[in-house]
Amino acid sequence: MDFYTRYAAYQAAIEQYLEGLFSTDKPYGRLQEAMRYSLLSGGKRIRPVLTLEMARLGGIDWHLALPYACALELVHTYSLIHDDLPCMDNDDYRRGRLTNHKVFGEAMALLAGDGLLTLAFEVMSEQRNVKPSTLVEVIHETAMCAGNFGMVGGQALDLEAEGKKISAKELKTLHEGKTGAMFIAAIRGGAHLAGATDEQLLALTHFAELIGLAFQIEDDILDVTGTQEELGKPIGSDDKNEKSTYVTLYGLDKAREMSEQTTQEALQCLDMFGEKAEALRELAKMMCHRRN
Ligand code: IPE
Ligand code: IPE
Ligand code: MG
Ligand code: MG
Ligand code: MG
Repeated sequence: MDFYTRYAAYQAAIEQYLEGLFSTDKPYGRLQEAMRYSLLSGGKRIRPVLTLEMARLGGIDWHLALPYACALELVHTYSLIHDDLPCMDNDDYRRGRLTNHKVFGEAMALLAGDGLLTLAFEVMSEQRNVKPSTLVEVIHETAMCAGNFGMVGGQALDLEAEGKKISAKELKTLHEGKTGAMFIAAIRGGAHLAGATDEQLLALTHFAELIGLAFQIEDDILDVTGTQEELGKPIGSDDKNEKSTYVTLYGLDKAREMSEQTTQEALQCLDMFGEKAEALRELAKMMCHRRN
């Protein structure tokens, strides 16, 4: 099966699973509606796709990893809703439609984010194919990646860096937190569920750190070079908020070079997996050369 067919199969399974989380006879309350609105509005689903690919690479039926994979998409979607709020990046469009708070109001958007984050841990705990002790370890790691030492911590650094000139090291730390950490969760979590060895986990962690960084460098680039039609979100958001980004610190050309270089380094981490990691390599390259 070629890479694009496989990616499409993962995406279809993820959409179906996410939709199933809300299938109930009861009429949807406003909160459920707000949660569904952002969750089921597209999105590349890269984090859960990575988890499923790690499961496949590890030799288990990838369908088994769907609860954990989709839980990560719940965490990610909550982070987007909160990221767009007026008190954060104050953006009006996401995934090709009005942002959650523009439709449901700020208070309900806040709660929709809270609801998605909490639901994520409920769904994660429903992951079944592993020993309870492994699952506890995976959930613990995920909480670390999503929390104050991971994504939320990175978002706080991002906020504090507005309008300031920060060092290269500080910017890298910020990106590794706000974006890289959830890639680590996706990749390590999937690998864990498939019973990866410590040696494999080490290589994959390094791979995740690097593609997470490259992914956010690309996001910084696209905020300047993309179009709203392609991205589904406004361009120029970083400039408007005086964000510290790879483009503001290094300029566009150097940022592009760094994204490419970081992706190449990431690919080297996969050497030990040989042919089997070919789809993962394709995925990493696609993430670096994306237009949305
Ligand atoms: C956007 O993430 C926020 C970042 C961490 C850069 P994605 O680019 O994965 O957005 P969706 O999920 O496809 O909408
Ligand atoms: C946000 O980074 C990362 C998150 C944790 C949501 P950005 O603020 O650059 O993401 P976009 O560009 O709004 O998607
Ligand atoms: Mg932001
Ligand atoms: Mg933003
Ligand atoms: Mg951005």
